[in-house]
Amino acid sequence: MERNERIGLAAQRMRTYVEQGQTFRTGAVKRVPARSYTDPDQWKAELELVFRRLPLMLAFTAELPRPGDYKAMEVIGLPVLINRDKAGAVRAFLNVCPHRGAPVADEGHGNCPRFSCKYHGWTFGRDGRLIGISDASTFGMVDKAELALRELPAAERAGLIFVSLTPGAPMDLDRFTGGYLEDFEALGLAEWTWIGSRQIEGANWKVAFDGYLEGYHFAALHPDTILPRTPSNRAHYESFGPHLRIGFPQHRISETLSAVPREAWGEQENNGFDFARVLFPNVSMFIAPEITQVAQIFPGPTPDRNRTVLTYLRREPIRDEADRAATEAAMNFFRDVTYTEDYLIGMAVQKGLQSGAHDEMLFGRNEPGNQYFHEWLDWYLQDDPDLPEPVLQRVD
Ligand code: FES
Ligand SMILES: [Fe+2]
Repeated sequence: MERNERIGLAAQRMRTYVEQGQTFRTGAVKRVPARSYTDPDQWKAELELVFRRLPLMLAFTAELPRPGDYKAMEVIGLPVLINRDKAGAVRAFLNVCPHRGAPVADEGHGNCPRFSCKYHGWTFGRDGRLIGISDASTFGMVDKAELALRELPAAERAGLIFVSLTPGAPMDLDRFTGGYLEDFEALGLAEWTWIGSRQIEGANWKVAFDGYLEGYHFAALHPDTILPRTPSNRAHYESFGPHLRIGFPQHRISETLSAVPREAWGEQENNGFDFARVLFPNVSMFIAPEITQVAQIFPGPTPDRNRTVLTYLRREPIRDEADRAATEAAMNFFRDVTYTEDYLIGMAVQKGLQSGAHDEMLFGRNEPGNQYFHEWLDWYLQDDPDLPEPVLQRVD
């Protein structure tokens, strides 16, 4: 089905949910063992079979638009360097010098014609090749061609940059993204502006991620921030492979949709309804006209902790100083709300799960995004491609 038509149908469903006090529902309540959020073996399996194996959406085109732009970041303990080479192609490396292991670029964003190692000053090209050994005549014979940065599979599509943390791993993005890239293509994401990033920390990565997958908690947890715009427990879900597009109707959806012809409903994002776009296993992107917040939730150093990178994008570039100041304030506001409203409860949830009070947690029929996410996670953890893939099914 064509994108606008599909969004138009989603809009229609969202409107019905608001008018009838309903929401997308699966066929049954799902139970997940509490220990899957605390068990070190499960956590290690998630790192090995999911985070090290799947293409991870680690950066946006907007973060490194020009040749020489780079982004260095840590991902599940691995130092990663993503950069755009002279020809404009994106490449990724482990940010580790082949001499004695130091990083060749500082964490964060920058632009440079070549990388220079912090420790003894060896230099590397944007293609990762070793260019220069400091005081080479004293060092001894080595084959420079063998001493490149270790490259990671990377691909840039529709404004998104995917990296696999395993050198040489195959990356079949068409299959993995399940037709979702067309949606990002239509957003014109590759032309947007990166306006900044923030970091927060919280509980087990799945405790945090669960919070991005449902709107059932809006009334209780976000009465002053989200609820004024968006009703609680009214949401529509669409799947693309393991990924989701979650439609959250606004209170005014009936009014808004009534004011435009039915054929145009597919173009009304942010005018009556909003979408959270979820990329498995760990990215949630909420587009709003003022500012777009993207959360990348990474497992932290231990099973009970996550590190979340919040990346902020906008369609229009920054206009002037006043605009810059306003966007800085907006980024801080969104970070603070995410932290104080969602991440603090997440840390309390983590304690609760570790207390042994209950063996299982429940995901209601009205929490389909969580059910689907946990089904896919289990599918990957079983590591058997012959098992049937999870299906998202609405049951009224
Ligand atoms: S560790 Fe990089 S130059 Fe020595
Ligand atoms: Fe929330």
